[in-house]
Amino acid sequence: QTGAFTFDPGYTSTASCESKITFIDGDEGMLLHRGYPIDELADNGDFLEVCYLLLYGELPTKAEKADFDYRVTNHTMVHEQMNRFFTGFRRDAHPMAVMCGVVGAMSAFYHDSTDITDPRQRMIASLRMIAKMPTIAAMAYKYHIGQPFVYPKNDLDYASNFLRMCFSVPCEAYEVNTVLARAMDKIFILHADHEQNASTSTVRLAGSSGANPFACIAAGIACLWGPAHGGANEAALNMLAEIGTVDRIPEFIDRAKDKNDPFRLMGFGHRVYKNYDPRAKIMQKTCHEVLKEVGNEDDELLNVALELEKIALTDEYFIEKKLYPNVDFYSGITLKALGFPQEMFTVLFAVARTVGWIAQWKEMIEDPNQRIGRPRQLYTGAEKREFVPIDRRG
Ligand code: SDX
Repeated sequence: QTGAFTFDPGYTSTASCESKITFIDGDEGMLLHRGYPIDELADNGDFLEVCYLLLYGELPTKAEKADFDYRVTNHTMVHEQMNRFFTGFRRDAHPMAVMCGVVGAMSAFYHDSTDITDPRQRMIASLRMIAKMPTIAAMAYKYHIGQPFVYPKNDLDYASNFLRMCFSVPCEAYEVNTVLARAMDKIFILHADHEQNASTSTVRLAGSSGANPFACIAAGIACLWGPAHGGANEAALNMLAEIGTVDRIPEFIDRAKDKNDPFRLMGFGHRVYKNYDPRAKIMQKTCHEVLKEVGNEDDELLNVALELEKIALTDEYFIEKKLYPNVDFYSGITLKALGFPQEMFTVLFAVARTVGWIAQWKEMIEDPNQRIGRPRQLYTGAEKREFVPIDRRG
């Protein structure tokens, strides 16, 4: 009988927080950023416009948007010495490991934007993170495949710049496909922020001690990497490939329902959504657009995914447990069609989620009542007892 412990009912978790940034109604399958529905932002805005909204609370005027785009664009290059961090990794290192290392190393580079008590430095750190993440992600990809780094080109929009840094090579002309760039931009919007998910809570907790903002973002990247969180897009694609054909779906549905089988339908279920993840609907539409543009409309993985969704949504287990596709279910197929290897999928999630992490970190730092996070516990260990010298321990 371990010790009895009376849980102090007066204790309130310091892990919970108030925020004005994102609202999720899990039962309705609703996601709002500063009050704007995600589908309206994805259909009508661009990613930097959503970044501005998340950071400052309002959609920008034309002048504000032009100024914000200009400021972000002029931070897209990384310090040339940062290239050396990449060469310390094996070529076959997972790009998320590289992202953790290189973004963490930014805390050693950009001293003029790490004093979190200085609003100007906080703003520069925010702009640097949003601007440099695509460059660092593209460098991680190029290093991974053994190609030379490609510098950002500031006459391109955010998504086009990223695709060019990933897929162009010095020896050939490269023209951005505007349909694919628009799809990439939309995918960034869908992943920008999502209330107090695990990685955002990690960034808030790390930031609550006053830690270096770049190091806090590196902590968020580490958390996002997990297959239960941002790593699910890579895991979902592996699952669809393992299922392979539509006729093997029932076998996997049974495994997902089997308590003794650790198999989970990756890309399904959500701690908050007990209805369809609104981002999954937009991602499915974007997936069709990308597959059509690359001439692979009849993609077998998409056929498996569509049939799996159809079967699962009529199965009483999934209905009873309110398990629906989440943002990761269709994203892997889409990103693969865009030309990315699956080990880059979570990196792309991190590029997009950086603005959410930064916006939530900024909101916390600027709260005059902000205190260090200190989640408590329900102790279920041994009661107080006396030490027993080793020669008397039998
Ligand atoms: C993201 O928090 C966020 O907002 C995250 C995110 C974001 O934008 O930041 O939305 C991004 O991480 C999306 C989720 C990606 N992960 C996956 O797709 C991995 C597969 N999903 C599961 O691992 C699971 O659904 C979680 C991790 C997402 C949620 O886990 P929970 O909180 O345990 O889910 P739950 O409490 O709603 O589960 C209810 C029941 C449980 O069974 P019982 O204990 O009641 O018997 O449903 C079961 C779960 O075991 N269940 C599943 C399942 N997901 C939950 N059974 C089969 N397949 C699944 N995918």
